[in-house]
Amino acid sequence: MTEFAVGVVGAASRGRSFFKPFMCNPHTRVEALCDINEEGCKKSAETIGVSKVYTDYEEMLDKSGVNMVVIGTPMPLHVPQSLMALERNIHVLSEVPAAVSIEEAKELVLAVNKSKAKYMMAENYCYIRSNVLVRELAKAGLFGEMYFAEGEYLHELKELNEITKWRRKWQTGINGNVYPTHSLGPILQWLGDDRVVSVCCAGSGHHYKDPRGDYYENEDSTSMMCRTAKGGLINLRLDMLSNRPHNMTYYSLQGTDGCYESARGFGDQPKIWLKSKSEKIEWNALKDLEEEYLPDWWLHPPKEALEAGHGGGDYWQVQDFVQAILDDKEPPIGIHEAMDMTLPGLVSQQSIMQNSAWLPVPDSREW
Ligand SMILES: NC(=O)c1ccc[n+]([C@@H]2O[C@H](COP(=O)([O-])OP(=O)(O)OC[C@H]3O[C@@H](n4cnc5c(N)ncnc54)[C@H](O)[C@@H]3O)[C@@H](O)[C@H]2O)c1
Repeated sequence: MTEFAVGVVGAASRGRSFFKPFMCNPHTRVEALCDINEEGCKKSAETIGVSKVYTDYEEMLDKSGVNMVVIGTPMPLHVPQSLMALERNIHVLSEVPAAVSIEEAKELVLAVNKSKAKYMMAENYCYIRSNVLVRELAKAGLFGEMYFAEGEYLHELKELNEITKWRRKWQTGINGNVYPTHSLGPILQWLGDDRVVSVCCAGSGHHYKDPRGDYYENEDSTSMMCRTAKGGLINLRLDMLSNRPHNMTYYSLQGTDGCYESARGFGDQPKIWLKSKSEKIEWNALKDLEEEYLPDWWLHPPKEALEAGHGGGDYWQVQDFVQAILDDKEPPIGIHEAMDMTLPGLVSQQSIMQNSAWLPVPDSREW
């Protein structure tokens, strides 16, 4: 049986969510942990019985014997830490987004192309049960021609900004869509063979100040419109500042033969109309289609999947990553899918600075 030794960086915080999914995979063991927060890292190590603890990431890569690494550190570290692993032919599962600038995104693509190791972006919302079901329905052609979708990530984090201080710069300190992948990821999987070719971004202004009295650089709500290669339109709203309850998982999809709207919470449920299933144009419950269309792995999930964070996404993404390496196949969210989900947000940051101009999104396959 193949055994992969996994290193987790950012192991005192987000990295912890990956422990159980790797520990219950028969092909992997958590071998080493790294975090500059030594005390927190040691505490994490004690809870799972890992003896190799590092505060220096390169030292973990060089000395611990890991051949897979999970990057759960702040956004600006995703590319530098991915590059260090890929240079050493160590497989990478990186937190989202894949990169914080187009220049470093390009560096990452070139490094993945050069490395013998595989890269996957940990876009866990693609694995949420309802999102997987909609993906299967779309794949079966039940929406007809799909031409419009919406995604919303509404996560008020003004307080969290002050605790995880990197967020004040990288999430609320830059204007535009700084965190697109949770919304765009599932939608792009539904649309299938399509990608975003241009974006335009506008904001709703600045209504909140940080505890130092400065306005956040990111506008409170931003809307990023995305034009796809097939002519479709995707509208993404990002809001990390407005006073309101969270809603990080709103999606909709419109095709010629059907439409879908996810739950907005507060008693709402995911609803769908498909021409082939219902003569009358009226909403039906999405869950009524589970028996027929949901893949068996989600229809009869192990308890570890049900216990994992983000609607089980934290579990399934790890299983897919490991399986891709065992099968020597491109991971399902490999470097180009990661770029398709990340680059539109980076271009939106230029668009909002240029009076909401429509700007082209590069295709990483051409780099
Ligand atoms: N996919 C999801 O659902 C999801 C959820 C939460 C966070 N995230 C992503 O995970 C990442 C971390 O977010 P978080 O909320 O856990 O932030 P955090 O600040 O709570 O945790 C980051 C951890 O990285 C450590 N760290 C920082 N610099 C380091 C370095 N050079 N070497 C080693 N360790 C270092 C910190 O000490 C901290 O423990 C972010 O990129 C965020 O976008 C994703």
